[in-house]
Amino acid sequence: MRISKIFLTASLLLTATIVTVAAIPQDEFKNLQVLPKNISAKELDKIMEGFNEGLGVGCNYCHTKNVTTKDLEFDKDSKPEKEMARKMMLLTNDINKKYFPESKDIQAVTCYTCHHGNPMPATDSADFRRKSDY
Ligand code: HEC
Ligand code: HEC
Repeated sequence: MRISKIFLTASLLLTATIVTVAAIPQDEFKNLQVLPKNISAKELDKIMEGFNEGLGVGCNYCHTKNVTTKDLEFDKDSKPEKEMARKMMLLTNDINKKYFPESKDIQAVTCYTCHHGNPMPATDSADFRRKSDY
């Protein structure tokens, strides 16, 4: 009796696990080149919200609308801003890995660190940006 109860509980748990895993579509995201392909929707959302805040923009700053449905086509690479954002993700990851290896769980440097809510980071003077100044 006791054994069969344990067995029943175990098989129910196993079934629940299988159902949960099956409920997450493996091909939910179609065009991830920097983020892990198996990232959860929740985690991806958090990152995208971080982009919005970091740059002070909406999702449509990097993602374009489908002309007929008017829905944002998140997997399409139709805007140069999206491609630039990929490079910026690599840059941000590199800075964190190389210069802040001790902060493992949090990102020391984020989009906001440089952008402060602007698509183009502010500079104190245009001249300062000339490469010849270095
Ligand atoms: C600064 C640019 C930028 C902004 C703003 C942005 N995204 Fe993204 N998004 C990207 C990039 C870059 C990728 C691809 C990442 C990769 O290749 O790993 C992406 C990928 C995605 C994907 C995965 C698409 C697929 O199937 O491959 C979804 C969904 C998504 N974004 C939703 C959003 C939502 C929702 C918002 C607003 C809350 C948003 N994004 C704002 C740059 C942006
Ligand atoms: C170390 C500083 C730094 C960090 C961190 C950083 N950026 Fe940038 N970003 C810049 C600079 C500087 C430019 C302007 C480059 C130029 O002059 O063309 C820029 C430009 C951009 C542009 C193009 C803006 C335009 O109008 O052409 C996008 C999009 C962008 N960054 C997205 C991001 C995202 C998303 C993140 C976080 C993943 C990020 N950046 C993190 C420094 C940074």
